[in-house]
Amino acid sequence: MKGYQPIMSFGEDVAETYRDVQRGDEVAAVAFLEQLAGRGPALELAIGAGRIALPLAARGIRADGVDITPAMVAQLRAKPGGDAISVTIGDFADVPAPGTYRLIYVVWNTLFNLLTQDDQVRCFENVAAHLTDDGSFVVEALVPAFLYRLRNDQYVDAEAIEIDEVRLDVLRHDAATQMLEESHVSLSRAGVHLNPVVQRYAWPSELDLMARIAGLRLKGRWGGWGREPFNSSSNAHVSVYGR
Ligand SMILES: C[S@@+](CC[C@H](N)C(=O)[O-])C[C@H]1O[C@@H](n2cnc3c(N)ncnc32)[C@H](O)[C@@H]1O
Repeated sequence: MKGYQPIMSFGEDVAETYRDVQRGDEVAAVAFLEQLAGRGPALELAIGAGRIALPLAARGIRADGVDITPAMVAQLRAKPGGDAISVTIGDFADVPAPGTYRLIYVVWNTLFNLLTQDDQVRCFENVAAHLTDDGSFVVEALVPAFLYRLRNDQYVDAEAIEIDEVRLDVLRHDAATQMLEESHVSLSRAGVHLNPVVQRYAWPSELDLMARIAGLRLKGRWGGWGREPFNSSSNAHVSVYGR
């Protein structure tokens, strides 16, 4: 997508829509992360509006964050407890937070918002530098197997069809570059609204090699936050890396 910058995906209007977004996995995710965090501290890469970090902090674990988009962090700040969270504004590939953490995590496919393999490897390396010796790095991401089932490497999904608005999710896949170009398109009397997002996906096995480059090892992988087995039917994985 020519001219695309990741920050374009999370402007003020989009940040507003993320304010109260729940995926339904929050309770299970926080329980999983809390167990690994021990006494903490924890660091969320791409903390966004605090969907996970806020309930984790409510369990008594110091949960810091990194995010590149002030508009998303403003949504976090506006929520109860949001002021108490320490957020560094910057690129999470750099892990620009001081100190070491017992738990660092990146959820909701957001690792793939780093658009090159180099940036993703750099992220693993910087995470390793900020992990305590007994620390864990948790990645929750999609499994790209669904891409095999696409016709012509693309789809258009009707997300909503209302009297006054139609919302479409439009995606194109490039298998050679592992890139997904996507836009959420809203058509209404107010006009056409586009919300582009580009991701570079990786298979779990590629992430494991990135971890090894960074001196980390896969400690466990599940098909979900409830520690469901990871197998060929898994649409997503929760992977735990450590030394
Ligand atoms: C889909 S939201 C997820 C937010 C939160 N992790 C959650 O699960 O609700 C993605 C977040 O990633 C942030 N982001 C994307 N690329 C980033 C980068 N390179 N560095 C830091 N933050 C980034 C965006 O600003 C946005 O807040």
